[in-house]
Amino acid sequence: MLFLRSAPRLGRRLATILFLLCFSLLFAGAQSANIVRDNKSAGRERTSLNDGWRFSRFVSDPDSLSYNTTLKPWILPSANDFINGTKYKRPSGTPPGSKVKFVQASFDDKAWESVNLPHDWAIKGPFNAPGISGGMGRLPTNGVGWYRRKVAFSHADKGKSVFLDIDGAMSFAAVWLNGNLVGGWPYGYNSFRLDLTPYLKTGGDNLLAIRVQNSHENSRWYPGAGIYRNVWLVKTNPTHVGQYGTYITTSDISDKSASVKLVVDVQNDGPATQKVEVDTEIHEFDAATGQPGPHVVASFKQGKVKVAAGEKTSVSSSTKVVIPKLWGPAPEQKPNMYVAITSLSVNGKVVDTYKTPFGIRTITIDANKGVFVNGKPVRVYGSCNHHDHGSLGAAFNTRAAERQLEMLQEMGSNSIRTSHNPPAPELLDLADRLGMLVLDEIFDTWSYAKVSDDFHTIFYDWSEADLRNFVRRDRNHPSIMTWSYGNELIEQNPTEPGFGEGNVLFRDMLRAEDPTRLSTIAMNFAWPGTPMADAVDIIGLNYQGEGHGMDTNGAFDSFHAAYPGKAIWSSESASALSTRGTYIFPVAPGNNAIVGSADAGGNDTALQVSAYELYATAWGSSPDKVFEAQDRHQYVAGEFVWTGWDYLGEPTPYDDARSSYFGIIDLAGFKKDRFFLYQARWSPQTKGAHLLPHWTWPGREGLVTPVHVFSSGDEAELFVNGKSAGRKTRGEYEYRFRWDDVVYQPGNVSVVVYKGGKEWGRDVKRTVGKAKKIDISADRTTIDGDGYDLSFITVAVVDGNGDTVPEASDAITFSVSGPGEIVSTDNGDPADMTPFPSLTRKAFSGLALAIVRSTKGADGKITVTASANGLTKAKVMIHTK
Ligand code: GAL
Repeated sequence: MLFLRSAPRLGRRLATILFLLCFSLLFAGAQSANIVRDNKSAGRERTSLNDGWRFSRFVSDPDSLSYNTTLKPWILPSANDFINGTKYKRPSGTPPGSKVKFVQASFDDKAWESVNLPHDWAIKGPFNAPGISGGMGRLPTNGVGWYRRKVAFSHADKGKSVFLDIDGAMSFAAVWLNGNLVGGWPYGYNSFRLDLTPYLKTGGDNLLAIRVQNSHENSRWYPGAGIYRNVWLVKTNPTHVGQYGTYITTSDISDKSASVKLVVDVQNDGPATQKVEVDTEIHEFDAATGQPGPHVVASFKQGKVKVAAGEKTSVSSSTKVVIPKLWGPAPEQKPNMYVAITSLSVNGKVVDTYKTPFGIRTITIDANKGVFVNGKPVRVYGSCNHHDHGSLGAAFNTRAAERQLEMLQEMGSNSIRTSHNPPAPELLDLADRLGMLVLDEIFDTWSYAKVSDDFHTIFYDWSEADLRNFVRRDRNHPSIMTWSYGNELIEQNPTEPGFGEGNVLFRDMLRAEDPTRLSTIAMNFAWPGTPMADAVDIIGLNYQGEGHGMDTNGAFDSFHAAYPGKAIWSSESASALSTRGTYIFPVAPGNNAIVGSADAGGNDTALQVSAYELYATAWGSSPDKVFEAQDRHQYVAGEFVWTGWDYLGEPTPYDDARSSYFGIIDLAGFKKDRFFLYQARWSPQTKGAHLLPHWTWPGREGLVTPVHVFSSGDEAELFVNGKSAGRKTRGEYEYRFRWDDVVYQPGNVSVVVYKGGKEWGRDVKRTVGKAKKIDISADRTTIDGDGYDLSFITVAVVDGNGDTVPEASDAITFSVSGPGEIVSTDNGDPADMTPFPSLTRKAFSGLALAIVRSTKGADGKITVTASANGLTKAKVMIHTK
């Protein structure tokens, strides 16, 4: 602990090494698909700029335009709308880059790669990129990337305000239009808007060029590289609703009515003062289709406002919604949404229309009783997740994100933490629609480095702008429960200079930007009485609440005693490790063990960790240990497990691997055994039983092979080759049934679980025969032909009876015909270094995955075939529409 206090990250790294040595705001996506929805409404046009780019990556600096040495004074003014103090002035003279050939229309980019956005240049690999650590996923994220495309503006666009909205570009984005440097945004996770109007030519093509740059060491996980989120072109009348220009809050909520307050920022980019009439109607909102309901359920009386040339004026008003349909987390509550449709009119003519989806709900977070949504208790069953989509990389895809959330919900999870950075806006649309609470987090570092080129390099210049930008973009989402303004900051330590500045400053900034929510910091080595713990609204504890490793004497009680008025949750818990389908013997006898070599759950040759789901890092704990700590401290509001999904990078405990072992779900999206352990706790109404390990162990005959069962039932009887091995009752603080002295003989092992004396579920594992054929299935057999939508194809290697061969590793070759392409393949093995686009993928623990994307604009049938030497091949058909 003391060691962790003085050098937390280093402490962990050393600990790991030691073990190894000894051992939109505007429109939500549609239900079925990944929609990038263009939108035209009176006065406003928002179109996707995702298609038709040319791209080139340079490993060495091609243009001497690095942010620090050259661009910085020109980029800083892009922060101006988000800082309260003195604004930055654009330097005079010719901006840098105008002579660089890539920004010239005359430059011939035919030899560059054709790409559509969102785009992550590094994901195709290969792995083991020079200079990139295991922590960052060993993929080639470094270098300078240039993106170019033409954008045509007609004469009708003359006089309009035209903006470029980039939802995220990794990183240090700088934008030129027609050779003029417009601005940019360094932090790769934030969205930003640039005003293109001054540089625009109507009546022809304009050349848009975007430069991004990544160092070799800018992250603790896989950051992705390039313009990896959606990009939009927004055209408005000079008089329009400003960027993030509506803020909706709700109060006095009862069954009968709710007060809704709306602030609208009216922006006037024109040369003369405007008298603007502001009207807003509220409709119900179908988040699945993005459509407002037909009826006006309430309206605001906002009246007329005068806005001077070049100014912005805010108009505030309130209304009441009667018999409100509340937003609340699934499955207990329904995520009902509304949309406020604001129109601005000048001289009776509508000049802008702006839609703001929102929800009506209350969230209170109580120091003794935890979270309440709409007055109903909600224990936080959450997970932390990074932003990547596994083999698809960081390039945002709505369907991939939807699949991630859907599987977490299936497990009974009601919350996510966006560790440790702002998510894509569409992720929040999904959380709104699906009814998941969000702990929206912005920073992993402040002024101190965790790796050499992380956010700390721009902290002093950009943290205020990043924070205000982040809150203003997201604050209308009902799913957001809390803001987090930092993770495991070195500034927790009161002996570090500067600790005091940030915590009060950021907390107060958050309170000013959004007085309706509490905020938190995820702390891992704070203690009661430290300035950071004193300052935060909610005490977020990473691991220290339940106690690190084998220590069960955690910090919950000391924080609760010191801060009786503040709620506490495990902002990060577990950091448990496993590889799907891998079982290593002997099995730890207790409910928690620190991973090590073969006798402690690890295999440091194969780079795998046992899926008995008992093993964790030295700073973490098994799920069972966390559950017990949570149950013994009922005032703790819940937990955010590290992590829901495996992610690229941070392959603790095996730095030579490519992706994490932390996930409850593996990188390909296959459920580890742990999924069922969490489901039993988080979704206790779900009937069933899940037995492990598999039962095909040639060579283990006569050896002790423990059998564990995850279920929400209270009693279970195990049968080994038909003979009872005993009926057990699950006691207090026990979260699994276990029979640790079962001796393996081929045949089968089965369990019957009971609840209240009635059968609740069964499972059986059989000794399987030789691999005979391939079984293939698609998660969705009808997808949109929009060029974004995906079908996830699972292949299992099965024996003659159709049972999955548990350790099959046959090389599967995928092929596709029809209007679709295979974007990537995977198998969830953290040590598989085959590049993700490879059409041949070895099965891992019997399974492999191919991800198929539709071709834009094409209807028809996609056929995916999977074949392997010696196995009967299989086909699946997907329809696009
Ligand atoms: C936490 C940290 C996470 C991740 C995790 C791995 O301390 O906040 O980002 O590194 O450890 O166990």
